[in-house]
This record gives sequence, C-alpha cells and structure tokens, in this order.
Amino acid sequence: MAHKVALTGIKPTGTPHVGNYLGAILPGLELAERADCKAYYFVADYHALTGAQDRERLIHETYEVAATWLAFGLDPEKVVFYRQSDVPEIFELAWILACFTPKGFMNKAHAYKAATDRNRDAGEPEDAGVGMGLYTYPVLMAADILIVDADLVPVGKDQVQHVEIARDIAQRINHHYGADALRLPGHSLRAQTAIVPGLDGRKMSKSYGNTLPCFLPTKKLRKTVMRIKTDSTPPEEPKNPDDSVVFGIHRALLDADAEKALAAEYRSGISWGGAKQLLFEELERHLAEPRARYEELMANKPLLDEILESGASKAREVSVPVLARVRDAIGIARR
Ligand code: TRP
Repeated sequence: MAHKVALTGIKPTGTPHVGNYLGAILPGLELAERADCKAYYFVADYHALTGAQDRERLIHETYEVAATWLAFGLDPEKVVFYRQSDVPEIFELAWILACFTPKGFMNKAHAYKAATDRNRDAGEPEDAGVGMGLYTYPVLMAADILIVDADLVPVGKDQVQHVEIARDIAQRINHHYGADALRLPGHSLRAQTAIVPGLDGRKMSKSYGNTLPCFLPTKKLRKTVMRIKTDSTPPEEPKNPDDSVVFGIHRALLDADAEKALAAEYRSGISWGGAKQLLFEELERHLAEPRARYEELMANKPLLDEILESGASKAREVSVPVLARVRDAIGIARR
C-alpha cells in the first residue's frame, strides 16, 4: 500500500512534562498508528546544540526524551526512531540546501527574530549572542525533512513557517535543475489539544519553570500536585472549574463525559485538597506504567543506544539514496 511518510523532530531540551505528553507525544503516537503512514521520528540532538552547550546535559536529555517516547508506547519496530546525529546525510544535504537559501529567509525565521527582538528590547546589539547555528537552524530542519522524502510534517503552529521554508528551498532546487530532486513536504497542524496550564496557571512550559514532569516518583508527584495554585474558596463552597488550574490540568486527561462529571463535583463544592487528590490519582493512572518502563530504559543506556542505532540504519536506507539522487541532480557526480 502506498503510504505517506510523516516526519517529526523532537528537541532534547528539558525534562519532558505533562504538557509535552498531551500536546505532542500522544498525538504523535496516534499518527504513527495510522496504517497509511510510515512515521520517522527522531531526537534532534544537533538542533539542541544551538542552545544546550553543556556536555553532560545534552547526553542526559537526549536519553531522557528517547526513553520518554518509548515509555509512552512508541514501537521502534513500526516507527523509524533515531538520533539525528546518526544520519550524516542530513548534514551534507544541509550544505546543499544552504547554497539555495536566500539569506533573507533566515532573517525572517521565527527563532532568529525572537532572539533579535529580545536583544532590541534589552537595548543590546541586534545579533548579540546569536550564533550561526541558531541563524541557519531552518536549513538544518529542512534537511531533516527532505532527506527522507517526507510528505507530512506534523507540527505545532510555531513550526509551520519552518516547514514552508523547507518546501520553498526544495522547489527552488527542483526548478533550477529541472529535476524532481527533492520531494515537496507539507505540514499538518497537530490537532489543537487544549493548552495545558502549568502549576502557576500560565501555559505549562519549561521556560516558565511551572511544569509537572512526567516521571516524578509517586510521592513527589503528589507533593507537586498539592502545590498547584488555588484560590481561598472554603472547602464546602462551590468552585468554578473554569477558573481552576487544578481542573485545567485534570480535564486534559479526561474524555468529554468524565470532564462533565468532574465539573459537576467542583460546582457542588469539592475541597481543593479533594480536587487535587483526584487529579493526582488520574495522573498516576496515566503515568505509573510508563514511569516504570521509563526507569527501566534509563537504567539501560546500551539498550537505548541499540534501539536508536537500529532506527538510524533504517533511516539511512532512505537517506543514502535520496542524497545520491540530489548529488547527481546538482553535478556532484562522476562520469
Ligand atoms: N524545530 C523543531 C522544534 O523546535 C524540532 C525539529 C527539528 C523538527 N527538525 C524537525 C520538527 C523536522 C519537525 C521536522 O520543535
């Protein structure tokens, strides 16, 4: 059966949290289960190098993110799951793409613009602290996508522009050489999952330091849940679920009926302590088994390496011929 190639990269930065699980991991795993899709998911370790320049952390966080996806059920027999750094064709293609990328594209890319905006607000020179890695990051991302002939790139809104840049560069090369050297990818927006609030009520995000990590030990998980901000409504009084961070996190784990039933309990006056206990129990139901698998995997790095290396061999069955095709098209060829 003809299948579509779906590809996504996962940056290993920071310990995976419940917001990642609900917003990216669950939808990613669902997509990978679709019979008409062949999924290529990779740990974008070289992307992390633009910012994470601490050796031990990079090693640790790369394993963490790989173990997390596997613990939540990614099946490496079905999904081609690899480390970016194990597929050298990506980096050779990145150079070729760079030679066809107008510099102006990079000036307009979000990550770079965010950095220059921050600098301007702080009264610093525009490019302060901006390395070429951050600046040309969309070119590397384009190579990730194009090297496996991806059709479909499931991403959050913030990454749509980068997929469009990949498509645009591919089109330029195809047009310039009058050849179908590169397959044109499209993006698919990840289903809009509810934004999961963090412990302080803002969006759960590593940069706010308000996350609920996926794999805290049970006791610590309970303690962290008990710390979630609540107002001072007395125990027996009705609570407005829509105003509550505890409810905001809890609902993201429930189907529509269970969410309604929970909202009714809030309105009939559950205590905050009781509401938090319910949330803790729901989290345990979702996380206890994956946590045990996660801990096993993190205690067995050689197994993680083996899984990722075997994924890289499968990725290279595609990346080697794609690179050969591109080299031939552009004249890096022998007669
Ligand atoms: N840039 C993505 C992010 O920050 C990660 C990523 C790297 C990616 N390469 C990719 C996503 C290729 C999709 C396709 O989240």
